[in-house]
Amino acid sequence: MAKIVVIPGDGIGEEITTAAVLVLKKVAEKCNLKLTFETHHAGGTAYDLYGTPLPQSTIDAAKASDGVLFGAVGGDKWDNVDPSLRPEKAILGLRKELGLYANLRPVKVPDSLCEYSPLKEEIVSGTDIVIVRELIGGIYFGEKCESEIVNGVERAWDLENYSVSEVDRIVRLACETAQKRQGKVVSVDKANVLASSRLWRRTAAKVAEEYKDIELSNMYVDNCAMQLALKPKNFDVIVTGNLFGDILSDEAAVLGGSIGMMPSASIGECTSLYEPIHGSAPDITGLGIANPIGTILSAAMLLRYSLNEENAAVCVEEAVEKVLKDGYRTADLYRDGFKKVTTEEMAARIAER
Ligand code: NAI
Ligand code: MG
Repeated sequence: MAKIVVIPGDGIGEEITTAAVLVLKKVAEKCNLKLTFETHHAGGTAYDLYGTPLPQSTIDAAKASDGVLFGAVGGDKWDNVDPSLRPEKAILGLRKELGLYANLRPVKVPDSLCEYSPLKEEIVSGTDIVIVRELIGGIYFGEKCESEIVNGVERAWDLENYSVSEVDRIVRLACETAQKRQGKVVSVDKANVLASSRLWRRTAAKVAEEYKDIELSNMYVDNCAMQLALKPKNFDVIVTGNLFGDILSDEAAVLGGSIGMMPSASIGECTSLYEPIHGSAPDITGLGIANPIGTILSAAMLLRYSLNEENAAVCVEEAVEKVLKDGYRTADLYRDGFKKVTTEEMAARIAER
């Protein structure tokens, strides 16, 4: 029996997590899995109910679960609340509480969606990458100074800093991810300039020695940004730090055409969290037009990484591809000649497949 905690959050969160739970229930039936679901509040919705975006009861439930399915948080409604209580604090708080040290973002472009990519079809077709981003270290979490006067001039600074153990565990995860794929890991850094990147590179090389079946190479981040747009097909797994990973994963997400398609997994020391990469989309909330596929593919990652149910995960991924091939599209991907469906209908089609 696996316990899944569902945190819809705000905006379209409710619609897209409902869609993903429908698909999970169906795949559980088909693959003989015992799943239970428990819903908890976070974000602006939780702030309205309890005066805090991340109630302790939500944290406790998440920690006690086998995996968390998260929608999105935020919205203009809460623009004027105290910054320490903003809805977005919920996701940052969960990352910290659950020790979510790695963010995995697959970028896979099914043939049926190549035409939506801003890149030429022959460049993007066949692209299948996983970006493994370090999530709770580096410059985002280093010491910072908002303002100081040095020699009469105001300056501010942020400290980039990585320990061997932080790099070790993320590179290990990247190697293990690549073992189930093509076995190629590109470690991305700026070792020609940054000391922290040189430690990163040394540590990555050492870890990779333990994985004889993995081919590790290094790439500077500026070159990687270019190669993602020129030859995305050449990548299998990319592993990188927090700042570089934030930027590269958004760049790569564009390859697939719609932000509504992209899933992610945040891997923790005990419980992991799965969410689409997009936000709460207040502009389309309640219209029933949000694309649920990013969340449904996140649920597939939950099956794969938290429950070790590879077959069920593949089953969901294949169902998504078939429904797209059948010509069903939510509004974000709709064009003449396709069949336009709502969020709910899209989920039902995928569940059926
Ligand atoms: P957003 O991702 O919510 O929306 C950007 C654009 O993409 C909008 O036009 C939206 O309608 C569209 N879009 C997003 N998801 C879609 C889907 N599934 N189907 C169809 N169209 C979709 O980003 P935005 O507008 O910058 O942020 C809105 C709120 O979400 C903010 O409060 C932001 O802080 C929050 N946010 C939360 C995240 C999280 O919970 N992890 C991540 C990113 C933003
Ligand atoms: Mg980002």
